[in-house]
Amino acid sequence: MFRILFCLGLIVCQSVVFSGFIYPKYDDSLILKWWQSGVIYQVYVRSFKDSDGDGIGDLHGLTEKIEYLKDLGVGAIWLSPIFKSPQYDIGYDISDYRDIDPSYGTLDDFDKLIDESHKAGIKVILDFVPNHSSHEHEWFKKSVKRIAPYTDYYVWKDAAKNEKGERIPPNNWLSVFNSGSAWEWDEERQQYYFHQFLVQQPDLNYRCPALVEEIKNVMRYWLDRGVDGFRFDAVPALFEVENLMDEPKSSKSDALPTDYDYLDHPYTQDQPETFDMVQQWREVLDSYENKGSDVTKFFMVETYSPIDKIMKYYGTDARPGAHFPFNFFFIQQFNRQSNASKAIDIVASWLDNLPAGKWPNWVFGNHDQPRLASRLDSNLVDGIHMIQLLLPGTTVTYNGDELGMENTFIRWDQTVDNAGLNVGSSRYQLFSRDPERSPFIWNDDLNAGFSSAKKTWLPVDPSYWINNVEAQSYTNSHLKVYKQLVQLRKSKTITHGDLQLFEASEWVFGFIRALEDYPTYIVVVNLGSEYESIDLQKIRPTLPRYLRAKIYSINHSPDVKLDDEFLSSDIRLTPKSSYVLTTADIIENDTTDLK
Ligand code: GLC
Ligand code: MG
Repeated sequence: MFRILFCLGLIVCQSVVFSGFIYPKYDDSLILKWWQSGVIYQVYVRSFKDSDGDGIGDLHGLTEKIEYLKDLGVGAIWLSPIFKSPQYDIGYDISDYRDIDPSYGTLDDFDKLIDESHKAGIKVILDFVPNHSSHEHEWFKKSVKRIAPYTDYYVWKDAAKNEKGERIPPNNWLSVFNSGSAWEWDEERQQYYFHQFLVQQPDLNYRCPALVEEIKNVMRYWLDRGVDGFRFDAVPALFEVENLMDEPKSSKSDALPTDYDYLDHPYTQDQPETFDMVQQWREVLDSYENKGSDVTKFFMVETYSPIDKIMKYYGTDARPGAHFPFNFFFIQQFNRQSNASKAIDIVASWLDNLPAGKWPNWVFGNHDQPRLASRLDSNLVDGIHMIQLLLPGTTVTYNGDELGMENTFIRWDQTVDNAGLNVGSSRYQLFSRDPERSPFIWNDDLNAGFSSAKKTWLPVDPSYWINNVEAQSYTNSHLKVYKQLVQLRKSKTITHGDLQLFEASEWVFGFIRALEDYPTYIVVVNLGSEYESIDLQKIRPTLPRYLRAKIYSINHSPDVKLDDEFLSSDIRLTPKSSYVLTTADIIENDTTDLK
């Protein structure tokens, strides 16, 4: 996308505010696909709803809660891995790609979930783990024994020797989970196998054509069962250089020699072959569309790479890749110190780098990252949702963020995530992902209504008695604001309108969504901790003298009443508060396009 410098504001006003760039509107004739218009909601199945009292969320429990998802208004659910697994990495270590783990249910339960979701108009996206399997997978057991065709399904290498002639790993590559070498010796096969993640997660070998075909067949298996798409896990880790070059030392001085961050990773991340494999997977998905189905089989990929690499995952027009790679920049670069210009940079850098015709997305949380309410500020949750849901592009929400759930404190003796356990009791809090995985909070019953078990797999957040879905349904709440925003997303201005980013003061970030003949929406978010008064006339002098608030953050000024009209030259924001303002009902003859 290109941008046009919006200079009018700069000329008219004296105390200059950054009035930003305008990104053009989408073509009126563009009909958005389900994955573009709908919100994608990540369900961490293990923590969502337990139906059989074992303290672990399951498919049947999730199916019981479809009404909640429908009411929330989301278009699709992405399920964290539910396949057979010994759970060393909570399902990201798969021992059978074609079956459901018994703790989550059966294939019948899965079929039922698909049916019920589809009846509710909700698509189902599966987590697909292509980089590695579990060491308990039949493929690995047979590969160890060099049984065809599995012999080369994994990355096996001979040992190197040190000066004393002793066996050492083939090179210095490190495991992501900070346990030292990414190579593990196998006595039986007398070779090392490579594991980017846990020892129990051997890497699959994408230089083996039979394995490549096997993985495509697994995709077909689930597509034939009716799934609507995939989230592909840890994609940059797919290939490594063939010459096994040592990786260089990083500049991160606080990393221990066994920490992944001790090295940079030019030879084990984002190799050229990876982008081609992503394009091949897209062909598999598109072949379903061509089979007479008019509905896109959707494909998003996980990557924390630098922006130039990330954009390559979109592929080209001739050979498309993912529908989108996740945009994690608001997770990686936005924190409690960030001001309005930082927010502009983050949004603009994605849009400026986006290849022509490709679609943006905005992500603020997932099962690997501290909760957004804890990372940023619980008072900023509504403002973040306004940003995330009203920018052009798809929103991906991590379950519980709609409630503003915070990290749950997990003691060392309660820790289950191996990423935490690997580094020991003094450093586990730096790496454990348990705090953001605690059970969903439904009501103030036992275990927040998540489970009837005496003990749940992770503790329920102690604040559940006051903060839960039920409580948030009675009062003005994050949940209610979230639902209003999901509805507003459907308006033509938000789906097709142009975008002007602005910085109304150092700490007030905002943007305008506008489309001829439709109401204009203006989002303003006070990221700071001071009271602010801003003048939107300086940003866009053509705005009417008065605006009306369409949606308020729950911490808005107490002296503001619901139907108040706001003087556009004097919008007041208490710390961390936010508004969606509109010209609807203000401009004569202006009609809202929302039902
Ligand atoms: C991805 C997943 C993470 C998992 C890792 C290894 O980053 O999101 O939870 O541990 O891949 O599969
Ligand atoms: Mg259960």
